[in-house]
Amino acid sequence: MIEKTFLMVKPDGVRRKLVGEILARFERKGLEILAMRILTLDEELVSLLYAEHIGKDFFPPFKEFIMSGPVVVCALQGENAIQSVRAIVGATNPQEAAPGTIRGDYGAITRYNLVHASDKPETARRELSIFFQDLCEDSPEI
Ligand code: CDP
Ligand code: MG
Repeated sequence: MIEKTFLMVKPDGVRRKLVGEILARFERKGLEILAMRILTLDEELVSLLYAEHIGKDFFPPFKEFIMSGPVVVCALQGENAIQSVRAIVGATNPQEAAPGTIRGDYGAITRYNLVHASDKPETARRELSIFFQDLCEDSPEI
């Protein structure tokens, strides 16, 4: 099934100039970049994107990091895109992420794990609507 999903290169990936290498992996897999923007997250966007994590111990330092510089946000589309992108991204903790995944190849610690990707269809819909309202209006099915 063709799906759309939300992907973000975090400030560590942008600072390390890995945007091209990261996005190339999704393109190579056959996923299409439908929309893309570079921006720095503000308080409101962080609380929308990471609502489920507010109040957890790791959140204050994570929040400082995630607002510390520009991120690249993308809408990706392709076969089984949500699971497929999560598989290419790898496990949350880069020490547990398999070699060959983005986090496995480039990451060392959980806070700086380079990318965010939607974990299920409801999340993809919600996260895409935060950054790409036009895309959601054009495609009411996502
Ligand atoms: O990003 P993913 O869905 O794999 O993981 P999550 O459990 O939804 O956590 C969101 C993000 O919070 C992670 O990608 C980490 O960057 C960060 N995090 C952290 O800094 N320390 C933790 N103990 C857990 C998560
Ligand atoms: Mg998550």
